[in-house]
Amino acid sequence: MSNIIDGKAFAEKLRGEIASRVSKLKAQHNLTPGLAVVLVGEDPASEVYVRNKAKQTVEVGMESIEHKLPAETTEADLLALVEKLNNDKTIHGILVQLPLPEHINESKVLDSIHYEKDVDGFHLMNVGLLGTGGDGVVPCTPLGCIMMLKDRLGSLSGMNAVVVGRSNIVGKPMANLLLQESCTVTIAHSRTQDLAGVCRGADILVAAVGRPEMIPGDWVKPGAAVIDVGINRIERDGKKKLVGDVDFASASSVAGAITPVPGGVGPMTIACLLHNTVQQACRQHDIALPDA
Ligand code: GUN
Repeated sequence: MSNIIDGKAFAEKLRGEIASRVSKLKAQHNLTPGLAVVLVGEDPASEVYVRNKAKQTVEVGMESIEHKLPAETTEADLLALVEKLNNDKTIHGILVQLPLPEHINESKVLDSIHYEKDVDGFHLMNVGLLGTGGDGVVPCTPLGCIMMLKDRLGSLSGMNAVVVGRSNIVGKPMANLLLQESCTVTIAHSRTQDLAGVCRGADILVAAVGRPEMIPGDWVKPGAAVIDVGINRIERDGKKKLVGDVDFASASSVAGAITPVPGGVGPMTIACLLHNTVQQACRQHDIALPDA
């Protein structure tokens, strides 16, 4: 088996399973999960994300609703829209695309989404449920990472896992998920002493720092599983290129398994968003998640 973890193929398989669950929900419960995505302003990267989300939502048979608001939208108007979506029974998931314009308080908006309609896992209730091993919604990127790790390695119990990066969106929830899998977890960050040595002790190394190719192959323990969450746009030899936080060329000759960039973690994130939407639709209707 190749040591490359093919996130694109994995995401395709997951979307197939989601489509099958959605068709069962429609046939057996007359329920079509609906996802509302709210975009404020005209950030080009966000517009691409939102377009991809809408396309894939429809492809698995779900309802997709987009709200595009001008950059000058007030916080009060955005909160009013979220409230309307909270009360709309045809909407089961609400995603407010980040970043928001500076005049809007991001955490206030995220916490205004009803936690049972939160599909990002950013609501404090879901953050708390993850931290206490409860049954909430898990942030999409770390969820995709843990799915790929379990698929490749089976049980993660007892393994040394190092997460480089301590963001609320990836680093911290990733560490919690690895802890739930009974790993011994270290969260490393920009102030960590002997980062190279810490990384070399990892059976599972998750890089989520947002620094192009910061982790070289000689920081990777031979045979380790490397999950590269970084998506960095760089220019090399006059060409624009997408690279991760790991130096793929050197790390892939040492790692037992490694996700490439692009084609690793990235495609899994939207697939997990669709998964979370189905999960929330089932929860709101008190239905068990159908088999795929
Ligand atoms: N902006 C970039 N990625 C994400 C994401 O996963 N969720 C939200 N809400 N905004 C984002």
